[in-house]
Parts: sequence; C-alpha cells; structure tokens
Amino acid sequence: MPKMFVPGPVDVADEVLQAQAQAMLPHRSKEFEAIYRGASEKAQGLFFTKYRVFLTASSGTGLQEAAIRNFVDKKVLSCVNGAFADRWYEVAIHNGKDAEKLSFEWDEPVNPDRVADAVKKGKHEAVTVIHNETSTGLQNPVKEIAEAVHAVAPDTLILVDAVSSLGGAKIEMDAWGLDMVLTSSQKAIALPPGLALGAVSDRAMKKAEKVENRGWYFDLVRMEKHRLKDSSPATPAMSLIFALDHQLDRIFKEGLENRFARHTAMAKRVQEWAEAHDQSIYAPEGYRSQTVTTVKNERGIDISALNNFLKERGMRIANGYGQLKNVTFRIAHMGEIQMSDVDELLKAMEEFLKKS
Ligand SMILES: Cc1ncc(COP(=O)(O)O)c(C=O)c1O
Repeated sequence: MPKMFVPGPVDVADEVLQAQAQAMLPHRSKEFEAIYRGASEKAQGLFFTKYRVFLTASSGTGLQEAAIRNFVDKKVLSCVNGAFADRWYEVAIHNGKDAEKLSFEWDEPVNPDRVADAVKKGKHEAVTVIHNETSTGLQNPVKEIAEAVHAVAPDTLILVDAVSSLGGAKIEMDAWGLDMVLTSSQKAIALPPGLALGAVSDRAMKKAEKVENRGWYFDLVRMEKHRLKDSSPATPAMSLIFALDHQLDRIFKEGLENRFARHTAMAKRVQEWAEAHDQSIYAPEGYRSQTVTTVKNERGIDISALNNFLKERGMRIANGYGQLKNVTFRIAHMGEIQMSDVDELLKAMEEFLKKS
C-alpha cells in the first residue's frame, strides 16, 4: 500500500480499518447508542473542550455549512488567506448570508488586529477562520484572533475550521474561547473519509435557537435534542463511528502531547530538508503548519514525474492546490506517518533530485 504523504485522505491503520468491519446494529439500540456516546465523549479530549461534539455523516464542508446556517442570521466576517477559507466564504454566500470577505495574501497569516477592526465596524455575528490552510501549509494564529475579537466584540462567535490539523496540533477550544471547531475524519485523525466532527459551545447553541432557516439535516438544535438521547436525527455513519471509537483509543494511548510533538518534529524535518535543498517554505516562519508543508518549487521539479518515481517506491506526495499547482508541492506529515517514513520519503526525493 503506498504511503500517503498527501493531506487527506491519509493512510488508515489496519486495525482501524478492521474496526469498521464490525457487524451493524440497529442505530436506535442501546448497544449502538453506548458506542455513539462513548466516541463523542472521547472526542472532547481532542478538542480540549467540555462542550458537546457532534458527529455528522458528511465531510468537513458539511459542517462549514452547518456553522453558517446555525450561527449566522445575517452577517459573518470571513477571514480569507487560502483556498479553504475562500470556500467557507462561498458557503456563506450560497446560503444567502451577508458575508464580508477580509482578505490577506496567501503567504500571510490572518492578522488579529485587522479582524478586530473589521468586527468593531461591521458588528458581525460570527467570524470564520481556518486554523490550518491545507492549500498553503500556513497555520493561522487562532488563539490571538479570538482574543482580539473578544476584546472588541464579546458576542461575536468564533468559528474555526481545523479540518487538516485537529488531532495533529493542539487547539484548546475552551481555553481560547472558540465557539465551534470542526474537522474531517480523513486528515490528522487518520480515519477514512465520510465523517465530520464539530465541537460547539453553549453560547453558540443558544444563538442557534434564534436563527431561522437552519435547514434540516444540519440543524444543530435538532441534533442536540437527539444527542442528549445518544442518537442522531438521521442514520449515522455507523462503520466510521466504530472506527472513530477505536482510533480515539489509539490516539490517547500514544498520548496527545506525544502526538503533537511527533507532528511538530516531522514538520521541522521536512522544512529543514527543503531549505537545505534550495527550496523555500511557502508559509512564513512562526506560522508553519505542523501537519502539511507547502514547498515552493524553486527547482522547477516536474511534480508528476516526481510522483511517478515515488509511487514506484510506494509513496506519493501532493501537487500544489489550485492556483499554487506546480509552483508549489505539498508534503503531508499527519496521522499515522512516523519520522522513519518521512526519512524514507526525503531519501527518495533526494535520489530523484540527483538524477533530474
Ligand atoms: C482546511 C480545509 N477545510 C475544509 C476542507 C474540506 O473538507 P472536506 O473535503 O472534508 O469537506 C479541506 C479539505 O481538504 C481542508 O483542508
């Protein structure tokens, strides 16, 4: 099986794949409800939250939409410095919201002071921000952004997409005062795609009760009523919940701090390797992702030739995303990837660079 140094879907451990093969249960049975509740409660640890964690049968984009529909009546500020931030802005527009785009260069972090200024002027109900921009390998200063917004607009909700970082980087939802943190299964948590996890604060739930047209499938007020009875309004992605339950045990067995340190060390190794081989990192120092490194393709590498070379050796990396295709490439180091895998990849890349 090829080693996936791509930012999702990532490799899934065999025993986690096996966990999916458990026999189905009626979803409204005591047996399944206990597993459902257990997985959701365990997941709170990943978010560093005492609040609820919703598990939805969707990818992460579904919860981007849920966030907009539940927590924004009219006005939202969308902080945009990459492709996935732009998607969240588009989601808001397509749901008929009055979304203001606060743009930054893609190789610059979202600036907390500029966000605070915009919120002070615009009195937005919520701010959306991406913690880890998978397109650019840039980690935004979410804690500082939340702090700056709280200082000028304490009622404004802070909605955070941590799709490609939660489980690989420490995001302290409650300590930072975040109102929703959402993620997908197929990235740093290392599950197959198809499940999204969203932690939501009490004050955000209160706000949702007052927002009209929340839709049906992603109506979090409806979901909360069911969640309190350990169930969901529609049929849950049962096999993925089995896998999540098992994978969370594995994650806590590794230890969260160990896991974060492993990701940080792998990121550092890849960054240093790139710089030692005359290629700079797209994201500025201090704002670099722990789970995916976007490298400027300053040596003009033919990325598909590189990937063909790597695939023969059982590995693959990712090309740049959207407008950054070919001018950058991305090496993901998340989930099950270990330092020894990174070393093997970098050795193979060196071999390729020597012969090209
Ligand atoms: C930061 C970020 N947000 C959102 C998404 C969309 O997630 P999904 O494909 O799970 O809907 C992605 C996907 O790569 C992402 O990296």
